[in-house]
Amino acid sequence: EKAGFEHFMLKEIFEQPEVMQDVMRGRVRLDEGRIQLGGIADQLEQLREAKRIVICACGTSWHAGLIGEYLIEEFARIPVEVDYASEFRYRSPIVGPGDVMIVISQSGETADTLAALRLAKEKGAMVVGICNVVGSTIARETDCGMYTHAGPEIGVASTKAFTAQVIVLTMLALALSKDRTMTDGEVMDALRCLNELPERVKRILDYNGEIQSIAEEYKNARNFLYLGRGYNFPVALEGALKLKEISYIHAEGYPAAEMKHGPIALIDEEMPVVVIAPKDDTYQKVLSNIQEVKARGGRVIAIATEGDEEIRELADHVMYVPEGKAFIMPLLTVIPLQLLSYYIATLRGCDVDRPRNLAKSVTVE
Ligand code: F6R
Repeated sequence: EKAGFEHFMLKEIFEQPEVMQDVMRGRVRLDEGRIQLGGIADQLEQLREAKRIVICACGTSWHAGLIGEYLIEEFARIPVEVDYASEFRYRSPIVGPGDVMIVISQSGETADTLAALRLAKEKGAMVVGICNVVGSTIARETDCGMYTHAGPEIGVASTKAFTAQVIVLTMLALALSKDRTMTDGEVMDALRCLNELPERVKRILDYNGEIQSIAEEYKNARNFLYLGRGYNFPVALEGALKLKEISYIHAEGYPAAEMKHGPIALIDEEMPVVVIAPKDDTYQKVLSNIQEVKARGGRVIAIATEGDEEIRELADHVMYVPEGKAFIMPLLTVIPLQLLSYYIATLRGCDVDRPRNLAKSVTVE
């Protein structure tokens, strides 16, 4: 059932191109230049009128939510807040009629996420679910929603469910924007990017041998720092979480520009820094961040756009991803980070499918 892979996690990482097709099937309508989301069709108009959207989730699903914030604000121009489900429910959250809450959960059973959705519903907000497990409690209790169709995720560390969640959020943002905040041409461009995504992800997976040798070199590190900007900031958080969960190496993710406000003090040759640095509007800024790390004796693993030779001069190692628009990058840059964590963990002899102290679904509060 692992289809020839050594672990479920590796199988699930490599499955992502097909999963991405499944998530988009029937929903990304290139011929009609639009997105069709059956699960929210009846509520779409009401969603487009939302005063504000609150996204609640935990863990990796919360990282997907952060990317959702960037997507919905950029495309649909609706204000979005992202909250840890546990924090939302224990303050006095301001939420009510006219607000929309989106809850994101792979398992659909996470206790804190479920409680946040019940609270929002009670206060009169419309609640939309993004779940993977069909018929799960969260999927049943939401007013409407979209399944991620990623198939069963067995590895405890979430990989394909995360990319599927981000694709659903991208499609949702586009559905909210059409005929409102985006022109038909802009929507069409975005649909084309989504359509090309599975092929691009396949290309990244082909680099897995190189990623494995980078893992070999860094497997004994005790701390890691992950940096990214904009759409890639949540990816830095997700890369760090993946490493912690399965390799038990301490790792932190930061917005690249925040490094100088504290974490820079930690940098030395003992702490590798993973910098997500695709060619986008902030590329030059990220290069300066790399220089700052190098000037302090740090070692840098960069994630860069194919063809970027300049970065080779600066970084110690480079993991390449194909070029793409800013909004699509998280779906590309997260792939080498999943593989890096996987290889580091297996080289350290860790049980990646069943990491210690973790459960696939967290039903305690
Ligand atoms: C990370 C991971 C956890 C879950 C979190 C939420 O790899 O698996 O952080 O993402 O427990 O779970 P769901 O999405 O099922 O609500």
